[in-house]
Amino acid sequence: MIQEELLKKRRTFGIISHPDAGKTTLTEKFLLFGGAIQTAGAVKSSKIKKSATSDFMEIEKQRGISVASSVMGFDYKGYKVNILDTPGHKDFAEDTYRTLTAVDSVILVIDCVKGVEEQTRKLMDVCRMRHTPVIIFINKLDREGQDPFDLLDEIEKELNIHTRPLSWPIGMGSSFKGVYNLFEKKLQLFSPGKNKLTDEVYQINDLNSSELDAHIGDKPAKKLREDADLIEGVYEPFDKELYLEGYLAPVFFGSAINNFGVKELLDTFVQIAPEPQSRQTDLREVMPAEDNFSGFIFKIHANLDPNHRDRIAFCRVVSGRFERNKFYKHTRLDKKFRFSSPTSFMANEKSVIDEAYPGDVVGLYDTGNFKIGDTLTEGEMINFKGIPSFSPEIFKELINKDPMKTKQLEKGILQLTDEGVAQLFSRQPGNIKIVGTVGELQFDVVQFRLLHEYGASCEFRPLNYQKACWFTTTDKKALADFSLIKGHHIVKDKEGRLVFLADSMWSVQMAQSNYPSINFYFTSEFKNADETAVIGKY
Ligand code: G4P
Repeated sequence: MIQEELLKKRRTFGIISHPDAGKTTLTEKFLLFGGAIQTAGAVKSSKIKKSATSDFMEIEKQRGISVASSVMGFDYKGYKVNILDTPGHKDFAEDTYRTLTAVDSVILVIDCVKGVEEQTRKLMDVCRMRHTPVIIFINKLDREGQDPFDLLDEIEKELNIHTRPLSWPIGMGSSFKGVYNLFEKKLQLFSPGKNKLTDEVYQINDLNSSELDAHIGDKPAKKLREDADLIEGVYEPFDKELYLEGYLAPVFFGSAINNFGVKELLDTFVQIAPEPQSRQTDLREVMPAEDNFSGFIFKIHANLDPNHRDRIAFCRVVSGRFERNKFYKHTRLDKKFRFSSPTSFMANEKSVIDEAYPGDVVGLYDTGNFKIGDTLTEGEMINFKGIPSFSPEIFKELINKDPMKTKQLEKGILQLTDEGVAQLFSRQPGNIKIVGTVGELQFDVVQFRLLHEYGASCEFRPLNYQKACWFTTTDKKALADFSLIKGHHIVKDKEGRLVFLADSMWSVQMAQSNYPSINFYFTSEFKNADETAVIGKY
């Protein structure tokens, strides 16, 4: 058995937000507290360094976004914390959704000026679908934002989750004085400063005490007392179980750039966030404390150096102990593999490790054997579930511009889609290749990488589809009718499953009502009714 103590002290989570809400800044402050980096700015500057050393990453640099998501581990108060970074840009949303399969909880950052934004909604849909516990950090309190009660109402309504403030802001923007921790009854006074690590904190158990007026002034003290009364009246007390089940999100307020409210968030996070959780396979649930190692690949990262074609597959350890140089079964290929230089990530550093435990993420060098969702075990033939492909939103036909390089193009597009850069569908007759993505940017990435890594030049022809629905039926006649009428819209995915490419949500609904014996699904993994219901909204 894996020691209980070891599991209790591990936290694997993702920070998610709409771009610009402050995810990178918050991540960086966490790493500062964890001692994993020494200076503010280190996280961003590493992004720039990477882009300077590779052409592919030029795309990222030029567009000023983070294409790749990575893993950052650090130690804090005896806990091993793993942050799985997620690209905020919506064109890489699918990468983020997949990364969320490898975390046990998330911290959602919301900009107090902008409130709930488009990506916030989509990311929370994915969290809700998986019942991922969420802590909310409302950021940028140094700016004039929306009223905190209004913000919480908006979050509850728009994100469909109950909230419970654990801290409360005193003023905002130019009149921002600090926050009162309702849970620990501590007053934390705000002073701007990027590099300070601690705030001025006072224990004030009774809000009616005149000490409060002395620290923040009469008027703000009066307002805080009124707010606190209202909070107690309106919100249920914090219930950890409801948080762990993903129904209730505790809320903190602060300013990441000023390092304000970040430490209390981190302290509460390590206390309440879940330890590494079990995961479901096609045969059984795998518990983290089991002896035998198992894990799954949730992300594949191309080598950014064009001289080395290998890739890094990110494996989330689910159970047991992963060991360097030990043979593990790749269950999809039914083949054994051994990894001589598995890598762990500590902030910006990569290092070879000898072992890893549940909750950890190990980077495995791969020469093209892995696909997203693959399972590794000590021999048991199981496959982890819950890493579905979601319906793309943009579809284009892949056109080969150089017939001499057909083989390279075929190989390249298969490998890139294995990595999850885009999805590939094929339509007969003529073996038409259709690439589906959630954003325009990925077409640039595919075109660029096919040319630079495989020497194949291609172009894309836009197609008028908006939605991919996987479908199954046992009704042969219905299938024949549907195929006859919708032939041009019926394709297969890489696994040979039937997919209906619809030109609107309306035509999906029409197909559903005209062919009741055909089951339509909005993700490639369609055993769970919850998932199809949620993702179906996109
Ligand atoms: P992201 O990863 O979610 O996209 O956001 P990021 O941390 O990059 O932050 C987006 C912008 O918001 C940055 O400004 C950052 O400095 C700023 N920011 C983060 N936290 C706070 C905060 O608490 N208060 C205020 N006022 N601003 C905050 P930028 O101008 O885009 O970049 P930079 O030049 O500051 O690096």
